[in-house]
Amino acid sequence: MEKVSMMINARKLFKDISDLPTIPAIVSKVVSMLDNQDANPDEIADLILSDQVLAARVIRVVNSPLYRTTNQISSVKRALLFIGFKSVREMILTSYFVEGFKQKDQPFDMKMFWMHSFSVGAISRRIARIVDFPDIEKAYLVGILHDIGKVFLGHYCKEGYGRMLASIRNTSYTTYEAEYEFFGTTHCEVGLCLAQRWNFPSVYCDVISYHHSSEMATEDPLLTAIVALADFYCLSHVTADSVAQASIPGRSEENAWNVFKQLATEKLPLSLEHFLSELDEEFETIKQEVDILFDTMTT
Ligand SMILES: [Fe+2]
Ligand SMILES: [Fe+2]
Repeated sequence: MEKVSMMINARKLFKDISDLPTIPAIVSKVVSMLDNQDANPDEIADLILSDQVLAARVIRVVNSPLYRTTNQISSVKRALLFIGFKSVREMILTSYFVEGFKQKDQPFDMKMFWMHSFSVGAISRRIARIVDFPDIEKAYLVGILHDIGKVFLGHYCKEGYGRMLASIRNTSYTTYEAEYEFFGTTHCEVGLCLAQRWNFPSVYCDVISYHHSSEMATEDPLLTAIVALADFYCLSHVTADSVAQASIPGRSEENAWNVFKQLATEKLPLSLEHFLSELDEEFETIKQEVDILFDTMTT
């Protein structure tokens, strides 16, 4: 498939859309400040406090069961110090993404979509930890965001996307292949357009764009492969995505495994199946985490 023509087709889909959910500029600014571990907590807290909705969101989430706080936290600065810059960054972006598409109707079950996204986030974090990836929260966040292109296609091309899903039900076609046939582009290119509109950091854009073709990723191929393997694990073990199903490794999973083996510094089992089966031990914990995250982010 030709990436350039797929990108051109993705851009065309965005052309006439006037009600695209936005992420406020202040949120992007806070997120990039939080990317810097040496940033000043007072400065970040002041910036968060200048947007009341954002400040309220940080306080609400930090006091949710997600972070198991024993005492109520009512100051933004304490929230930053308590859960850490990277967790606040991940929580802010996730909540704006969920909020943006909450009211946008879809031809698929959104609850299953979120469960899939949160599961991929949680599994990406586990895999990142296993291979000592330097930014575990980044793996978690980008795992949650990897399929954002599907919510765009589902909502803004609702009728065609519904027809496409019906046409591949009970077949071995993947959504990725069907999207290409129906729209001349896929949720990867569309997701990239959306991520660029929202000023996501370039590494997030790269993972969103290449999570079905890790061998083409340039910014951080290891991170892209981590998300690709987590995606495959979730489709075959954790939750059936309402939008796609895959239980045997295809070419894109084999490619992701090859990239992963080359770049991971830890000693890994010989086969992909072996590696993924190691995650089964934590399966129940991950499921509980995903349930809490889902309740916190969607209520
Ligand atoms: Fe995907
Ligand atoms: Fe996925």
